[in-house]
Parts: sequence; structure tokens; C-alpha cells
Amino acid sequence: MSYVKLVDVTKRFGDVIAVNKLNIDIKEGECFSMLGPSGCGKTTTLRMVAGFEDLDDGEIYVGDSLLSSKAKGYYLPPEKRNFGMVFQAFAVWPHLTVYENVAFPLKLKGIKRDEIAKRTNEALKHTNLLEAAKKSPADLSGGGKQRVALARALAINPKVMLLDEPLSSLDPHLREEMRFEIKDLQKVYGFAIIYVTHDQAEAMALSDRILVMKLGIVQQIDTPLKVYNEPSNKFVFSFIGLSNFLNVKVANGNIIAGGSQALQFKEMPSDALKSEGEITLASRPSEIDFVSEGGVPGIVKRKAFLGEIIDYAVDVNGSEIRIQKGRRFIGPSIGSQCRLDFLRPHWYSLKD
Ligand SMILES: Nc1ncnc2c1ncn2[C@@H]1O[C@H](COP(=O)(O)OP(=O)(O)O)[C@@H](O)[C@H]1O
Ligand SMILES: [Mg+2]
Repeated sequence: MSYVKLVDVTKRFGDVIAVNKLNIDIKEGECFSMLGPSGCGKTTTLRMVAGFEDLDDGEIYVGDSLLSSKAKGYYLPPEKRNFGMVFQAFAVWPHLTVYENVAFPLKLKGIKRDEIAKRTNEALKHTNLLEAAKKSPADLSGGGKQRVALARALAINPKVMLLDEPLSSLDPHLREEMRFEIKDLQKVYGFAIIYVTHDQAEAMALSDRILVMKLGIVQQIDTPLKVYNEPSNKFVFSFIGLSNFLNVKVANGNIIAGGSQALQFKEMPSDALKSEGEITLASRPSEIDFVSEGGVPGIVKRKAFLGEIIDYAVDVNGSEIRIQKGRRFIGPSIGSQCRLDFLRPHWYSLKD
């Protein structure tokens, strides 16, 4: 059953269409990420769900309740939506203690004192902040401040958590750790998460489903596995993980790439795509083998030892193809001729 529902939601700023006819269904307890480059409309979408931004078109629902509707001229203010929110900047009140930061929104809601204490302590416990309760958030690290923001959001017992790049100001190690803390909190509290990020690894690690967005338009909504294995277009392919693109010719149903030899692949492009004459082969660096015959000829331009992996850059007709092998792999040396076998190519139109 869908819990948060966006129907044809559109938002313009002057000539810019920040969000273009967005349709999303988020289930109860689901972790749903919105992923895309800076400026693609993620924050604007989240702000519309939160109620900080009105809509130019469309409707937003939670359960059966309408939150915003352009057509009906309806708009429920943010404080009545009962969403937990954490943003990128450490939005904590420095003049209040950690405890007061978490308790304050509950006071504003007119909740009874006992209940405030109970919920605040509970939220502080789950975010490992009980010992810091009397401190000023100013004395905490970046991670500590984000925990305060998280605790404050938890204390209101939200059905939905809106998280806008909450970890992007933290160092990589802490960022990774806090991903798992957020997942654990979700298990305890059972809220749905709408998670905004431009970091594909973060989206993959956290999400039940990922929405990939470009210039306000949805490109794909799928599980992390599907988004990775079956990207709907070149943009999604390039945004998730490392990617190689090679333009190849089609002649008599065969693929010709970087040589005159006709190539066959286990997965060939559709007939419709073949009829375009020239198409794009897309592949991941881990899904290419060096072979002694057949394949696509190239010249090794770079070979870098990165610890666990060896990273090759091979020039194929002016296109750089990255190949990654395990650290024990004995492969061709820099400057040498090689041949590449693309194991699981994806095919896209040049126009895509
Ligand atoms: N208040 C605003 N006024 C004018 N343009 C805005 C405003 N907020 C966002 N935009 C524009 O809307 C687009 C989407 O922005 P945003 O939602 O912040 O993207 P993201 O969070 O994905 O980086 C961008 O082109 C941005 O410049
Ligand atoms: Mg943003």
C-alpha cells in the first residue's frame, strides 16, 4: 500500500522547471532514495513534501489525507504534517542544550511534560546521546550535531523521515557508520524514509528503492540491484557505478568496434536498435576481460595499482575504456596491444 503519494507534482522557478510531473508512491516503512546530480530537483521535492514549498501543479498525499493540492487550493502547513526532518547543514540551536534541542519541538506541540521527558530520553538513547544531554551542541563534532538533529526528528514519532543529504558534511568513515545507524533506527521506529543524496553508494546501501532524477525528470525508479543491473538509459548507467561507453557500428547484424572483425555478444542489441547503424555499447570496468584473440583491439594507456584492484585504461579508437581486475591479475603492460571482451554489454541509442 502506498503511504506517501506524489501525483504529477511540478515546481517552477521562473523559466526553470525544477520538478517536472513527478509521480512517486512510497510504502509504509520503506526507505526510498532520490538520487541525482546537484540541481536536479531533489531538495525542491523534499521541501514540497515537507510543506515549505507550494506546488505549481499536482497533489501530495500521506495515507488518505491530502497535504497539498494546486487544483484544490489546499495546503497543510509543515507543523501539521508530523514529518521528521534532517538537513545537510547542522541545524541545531546552539543556545539550547542537547536535551532541550530534542525536547523543544515537543513543547511547541503542547505535549505533556512526562511524555516529553520519555520521548526525549528515548530518542537520546537511540542516538547514543544520553551522556551528552546537558552539553551544548556547539561542543559536539559534526557527527554529534547530526545525531542531535536526528534525535529531534525521532522524538516527534514521525511516520515519515525526510533526510536531505544528512551525512554529506561528515567525513567518509563516519558517513558510512551513520548510514547503518539510520537503518537501525528505522527498524526500531518503523518510519518510512525519503532520503535525498547525490552519492550513489549511499543510496545503494540504504534504500529499498531508488529514484534517479535528471533536470527535474524521473529517469528510473527501481531496487538498487535493478538500477545497477538494468539501467533504463545512459544517464542512469553513468550515474550508478563506474561506466564505459563505446560507440560501435552495426553491419549485417554484426557489431564492428575498433577493427574490421564482426563481433558477437551473448546479449545482442535489439533489432530496432541495430537498425540505427551506429549505437553505444556500455559496460562496467569489472565486466571486461583481456583475451588473446577476437574481441575489440586497443592499446593500454594506463595501469594503476589501487590496492585491492588494478585499474587499466585502454584506448579503443580514441575512447578510453576502464577495466578493473583483482590485484593478483597478470595483465598487459602499458603501451602494449590488447584485446577486450565485453562480457555483459548494455546497448543504447546514440540519441539516448
Ligand atoms: N528558491 C529558488 N529560487 C530559484 N531557483 C531555485 C530555488 N530553489 C531551487 N531552484 C532551482 O531549482 C533547481 C532544482 O534545485 P534543487 O531542488 O535544490 O536541486 P538538488 O537538491 O537536486 O541539488 C535548480 O535549477 C535550482 O537552481
Ligand atoms: Mg539539494
